Amino acid sequence: MGTRLKDKVAIVTGAGTSGEGMGNGKATAMLFAREGASIVAVDLNLDAAQQTVHAIEAEGGRVIAIAADVSRSEDVRAIVDQTVTRFGRIDVIHNNVGIEIAGDPVSTTEEDWDRVHAVNLKSVFMMCKYAIPHMEARGGAIINVSSVASIRWSPVPYFSYHTSKAALNHMTRVIARQYAAKKIRCNVILLGMMDTPHIRTYYRDLPSDEVAKIMRQRDAHCPMGRQGTAWDAAHAALFLASDEVQYITGAEVVVDGGLTL
Ligand SMILES: NC(=O)c1ccc[n+]([C@@H]2O[C@H](COP(=O)([O-])OP(=O)(O)OC[C@H]3O[C@@H](n4cnc5c(N)ncnc54)[C@H](O)[C@@H]3O)[C@@H](O)[C@H]2O)c1
Repeated sequence: MGTRLKDKVAIVTGAGTSGEGMGNGKATAMLFAREGASIVAVDLNLDAAQQTVHAIEAEGGRVIAIAADVSRSEDVRAIVDQTVTRFGRIDVIHNNVGIEIAGDPVSTTEEDWDRVHAVNLKSVFMMCKYAIPHMEARGGAIINVSSVASIRWSPVPYFSYHTSKAALNHMTRVIARQYAAKKIRCNVILLGMMDTPHIRTYYRDLPSDEVAKIMRQRDAHCPMGRQGTAWDAAHAALFLASDEVQYITGAEVVVDGGLTL
């Protein structure tokens, strides 16, 4: 066990994983727990959150699971209330949930636009609304998970994903500036091409050799010759959560192996 987050309480949203393997939220929850934090593992899918709980408990960590839809105000309020009731404080919030629905400006429906912005953006607003009052006395760290899709065009049409993540970047700056004096730091991680189970769900109907070929192409597209892993995302989050970075706030930390250079 490390001590970089000793005695801290961290909420991690989307702490489960879509399918088998290691998603960004699960790896982050595990790494935070390994560094001494008590974890509140939040997910829409309770089974997925429970798998993260089992993984953390197997390593001797302290964790509870909460089933919640972070786009719903009452669910987010309940997450905050349960965290404070169970652990007495909130030090770190890792806003990891993000979804995408395909569509360009013409084909995107209003319903899809509203859903993507509710899950990717309003959820973070709600979390800040209810959790910040519990952080103001001691300070803390808020980490938002964005994407390089927030700063550049991509050939895959995910219009509402791009706009919601771009707004998340600026929400990060606004929160960072407003709460700097209270020592609540707020930073955003922009992930590049990551090889997570979620990405592989795009190709679930393809034969395995075809999937392997696509993964090789994705790897080759990245300057380092490989996609990022959930652990690459988790280590950036740990850095931003820890007290080592007391003077970093409002920053965009790009974790893309040089993809956007
Ligand atoms: N995987 C990538 O290549 C990549 C690239 C850039 C950015 N990101 C970002 O990383 C984050 C996590 O990505 P991932 O691929 O590990 O995720 P994932 O699809 O595995 O999702 C993690 C969990 O979030 C949960 N979830 C979804 N909607 C929810 C909701 N409304 N309320 C509560 N939980 C909900 C899912 O049930 C799932 O268990 C997202 O914000 C995503 O946009 C991922």
